[in-house]
Amino acid sequence: MPHWTNNPAIPSPCYVLEEAKLIANLKLMQDVQNATGVDIILALKGFSMWSCFDLVSNYLQGGTASALWEAKLAKRIGKQVHAFSPAFKAAEMPEIVQEVDHISFNSVAQFLLHKDVCAQANVSMGLRVNPEHQEADTPLYDPCAPGSRLGITAAQLKGQDLRDVEGFHIHALCECDSYATERMLNAIETQFSSYFPKLKWLNLGGGHLMTKHGYNIEHLVRVLNNFKAKYPHLHVILEPGSAVAWQTGPLIAEIVDIVENNGPIAILDISVTAHMPDVLEMPYRPSIKDAQEADELAFTYRLGGNSCLAGDVLPEYSFAEPLEVGQRIVFEDMMHYTMVKTSFFNGVQHPAIGILRQDGKFDLIREFTYEDFLGRLS
Ligand SMILES: Cc1ncc(COP(=O)(O)O)c(C=O)c1O
Repeated sequence: MPHWTNNPAIPSPCYVLEEAKLIANLKLMQDVQNATGVDIILALKGFSMWSCFDLVSNYLQGGTASALWEAKLAKRIGKQVHAFSPAFKAAEMPEIVQEVDHISFNSVAQFLLHKDVCAQANVSMGLRVNPEHQEADTPLYDPCAPGSRLGITAAQLKGQDLRDVEGFHIHALCECDSYATERMLNAIETQFSSYFPKLKWLNLGGGHLMTKHGYNIEHLVRVLNNFKAKYPHLHVILEPGSAVAWQTGPLIAEIVDIVENNGPIAILDISVTAHMPDVLEMPYRPSIKDAQEADELAFTYRLGGNSCLAGDVLPEYSFAEPLEVGQRIVFEDMMHYTMVKTSFFNGVQHPAIGILRQDGKFDLIREFTYEDFLGRLS
């Protein structure tokens, strides 16, 4: 029987969310919430597929936004909306405070600038603090690297008038395990616990990859419960993005041509830079269904995107059979930090978005047209 990714009802290219896998992730997060009393909210920056927000809303407590438009979208989940941005403009604040329950400022100056408009709207205010504790492997994703612009350090916080500050927000992790969360919490406690008695909430940011195979959930629960036992008055929030959509579906592409230059290169109907930019930015090697490292299987190819960028190309993969024009290539785990980052670069066709329902039925949610491309430009 052909694999579901070859279903002709699925156009190419297409991001396909596997509903059952998303539900499994959400259920795991619900278990963590039930076992610890922490609230988990979705970081929209990582996964904003709003056609699934009703599902998300069944299990999580809301969303966190990086800007006004994400805040508006987060409201579609219902429940809590948080926001953090490196800097909010005064002109956008009246609208933002209509959307959010909590807001975290990146500097004391921003807090002072916006505190009146927040107070009038009954928005709970927090500060993003920087524990200068490094856990992220990738410099691009390390908010605690020396010289980071993200968050107020303990030294900078000393002596500030923090009246009306109700929470602290810390984001220090990226695709991390529970032991990194434990170390981060220790660093936060060491540097900032003297402020805790005056706070109501503590947002521990994202990067908690609790849905990854092998993640030690019991340990996370223990760490969070120990922390909560020490500070029972604090409302603890986690805001993962990747973990919500981790391994919940592929990007399906198709081979359009095969060219030769120091070996065969299959040209696809997607663009790496436009449709999975983290592959080049991070960088990382995406998994491809039925493919292995170069030369492990009989036929080795490079895979190229359909844009003019010379570097729009993936390293070598090997396959059991020779590749053919028209054949599908299935990039695994392409739900997080993909759809939210795509562009219409070169006017390359933007992948459609679909959902593989739990019963195996495919629903095409959205296709993109020339008008969408036109609408991004003027
Ligand atoms: C402030 C903040 N919160 C949450 C997240 C989500 O992180 P992740 O998708 O790694 O869980 C990020 C990611 O950059 C972030 O910057």
